[in-house]
Amino acid sequence: MTTTRTDATTRIDPVTTADDGAPAPHACACHDGPSRRDVLAGLGALGAAATLAACGGGGNPAASPVATEGLAAGALARVSDVPVGGAVSARLDGTPVIVAQPEEGTFVGISAICTHQGCTVAPSGDGLACPCHGSTFTLTGEVDQGPATEDLPTFALAVEGDQVVRA
Ligand code: FES
Repeated sequence: MTTTRTDATTRIDPVTTADDGAPAPHACACHDGPSRRDVLAGLGALGAAATLAACGGGGNPAASPVATEGLAAGALARVSDVPVGGAVSARLDGTPVIVAQPEEGTFVGISAICTHQGCTVAPSGDGLACPCHGSTFTLTGEVDQGPATEDLPTFALAVEGDQVVRA
């Protein structure tokens, strides 16, 4: 069975329920976020300001809080805030993303929307983790452990001065 929901932009999205055998959404805050389509569309948009999130956006306490003061318009993070071999949570056009630095000086932008059921993925140790069902991902977005089977979409980043921006 398919129903519809309306989000803040009044776009209508089909929502699959358990009646058709698909996994039913559960009652966590994670699924109130944008859909995978929203993420891909958001990552394709250019020019809007990006700001860091105080958390992963999905209620994940493991997310790295990072100050946003002093960031230039469109900047995702300060270079000094992104640990080598780690990552921070950020927002790009309001969509939760990850800014990772798998190797010193190499920055990778990663969608923070889990490819399993849409929870917000957050930095966790030397990788990324989803709080809902335990999927983990590498700092380049590849699935490390399921149930997610698809890698997180990535996007190019660049360094401008002391800040990381979308390339
Ligand atoms: Fe299920 Fe991420 S939503 S593991």
